[in-house]
Amino acid sequence: MKIIGFATLLVSILFWNCTPEKKSEASEFYNEPHRPQYHFTPANNWMNDPNGMVYFDGEYHLFYQHYPDSNVWGPMHWGHAVSKDLVRWQHLPIALYPDSLGMIFSGSCVMDIGNTSGFGLPNQPAMIAIFTQHFMEGEKSGRHDFQTQGIAFSLDKGRTWKKYEGNPVIKNPGKHDFRDPKVIWHELSKQWIMILAVKDHVEFYSSPNLKDWNYLSDFGTTTGAHGGVWECPDLFELNVEGTQETKWVLLLSINPGAPNGGSGTQYFIGQFNGKEFESEIQDTLWVDYGKDNYAGVTWSNIPKKDGRRLFLGWMSNWQYATVVPTTAWRSANTLPRELTLVNTGKGLRIASNPLTELESLRNTPQEFPGWISATDTVSKEIKLSSGQTEIVFEIERENAQQGFELELKNGKGEKILIGPDDQLNQFYIDRSQAGIVDFSPGFPGRHVGPRTSSDLNIKLRLFLDTSSLEFFADEGTLTMTEIFFPSIPFDAFKIRASNGGIRIKSVTVYSLQSIWKE
Ligand code: FRU
Repeated sequence: MKIIGFATLLVSILFWNCTPEKKSEASEFYNEPHRPQYHFTPANNWMNDPNGMVYFDGEYHLFYQHYPDSNVWGPMHWGHAVSKDLVRWQHLPIALYPDSLGMIFSGSCVMDIGNTSGFGLPNQPAMIAIFTQHFMEGEKSGRHDFQTQGIAFSLDKGRTWKKYEGNPVIKNPGKHDFRDPKVIWHELSKQWIMILAVKDHVEFYSSPNLKDWNYLSDFGTTTGAHGGVWECPDLFELNVEGTQETKWVLLLSINPGAPNGGSGTQYFIGQFNGKEFESEIQDTLWVDYGKDNYAGVTWSNIPKKDGRRLFLGWMSNWQYATVVPTTAWRSANTLPRELTLVNTGKGLRIASNPLTELESLRNTPQEFPGWISATDTVSKEIKLSSGQTEIVFEIERENAQQGFELELKNGKGEKILIGPDDQLNQFYIDRSQAGIVDFSPGFPGRHVGPRTSSDLNIKLRLFLDTSSLEFFADEGTLTMTEIFFPSIPFDAFKIRASNGGIRIKSVTVYSLQSIWKE
């Protein structure tokens, strides 16, 4: 009896390991139509904002707004993943679950190196998460005080968490939109600063220990874009490239009210003295002019010897995020980018550029140096060996009549069009014919972003994944991120140039490895 039992068990284990279902499950992993191959997506179900990004002990942590039970927004948890290089990610169990104070909305993490909170142990600093709790029953019953700020700590590199029993650490004074705390250590005043998004402005709070918070000031009611609610702030100091000067940058996501509709992230450049922020810019500036880069914030606790300001956004838009045509998962993040502050002909601007770490994804390049020197209209096409491609493109022109247009396309006639609009000194990306576009009226369209330079010679970097394009022009001072859903992957890159005299200096094409497959 025993022997038969053991044999049955053995046979079934062997069988289980090679059943066709099991095999196909493995090959299906991260292989569904439209599944990004080198961008972060949750294994299953819904994701929105990146949260709590913090570096500690060799790991970059990424938490994110996650509803594990469905592919649409619902009771929010903090999903969790870690990476050693910001390129390849390992999924970890959910970090924070909703509780009697509400769902876990967006927020940030810090390493409490000085153990100001008392949560740490000798030689074991606490990782502390600061987040909004959204009490849905309160909202439904018509109250205004349903969003409060809470904290939790972890002593094992974010693997397990304990919520503070004194939560909420900031109660709601009756303000309907009161959320998304970003906490930073302000070295000059030796205190924690929290930046909170409150409907049409941000509020600053200070704390000696992350538990007791004092209101300091507010900013923004009469400054910047106000087409929607302010969300997901960030505040950091950046060196002005090539100078000894530093400025403070305030990132602020707004929904709706972005330049091309729906959700977008604006920024201010100015001074922060530990109490108040003062903006020094007149224009309304946007981190990204594409439709799909929202709620982006930066990593905290990046080692001084690295010193970069590292950013990641949610690659979607509330106009259509819940109805995009994917089912197993919904939404991806942008590529991680480095933010710098540069002087341009138009004044100080943020430059966003993909991290050098991403070069580790490159396969052998295909190069097309000095590719076309044309006197007439030209049209050339490069076959792409995969739908995951980086393209570096340089063109030289003598006058603005020498127009050109780039096309990413597939055999079904679906395409994305990209080009300069020299008269308006801007770039456009048109995804109207990019495949499945009819799931939301806000989705198809031609979207534009202003150039910071009027140089006729143009260098572009394009990152194409299965369902997204990230476009970097003018040294990263114009960035456009757009998602799309072609019925088969784009597999060709076409260049059309008119009015002669254009020289395509070089085109370099790298197919990129998947981060989800061996
Ligand atoms: C931004 C946002 C945040 C909020 C979270 C809820 O996309 O609306 O303001 O904390 O999403 O999931």
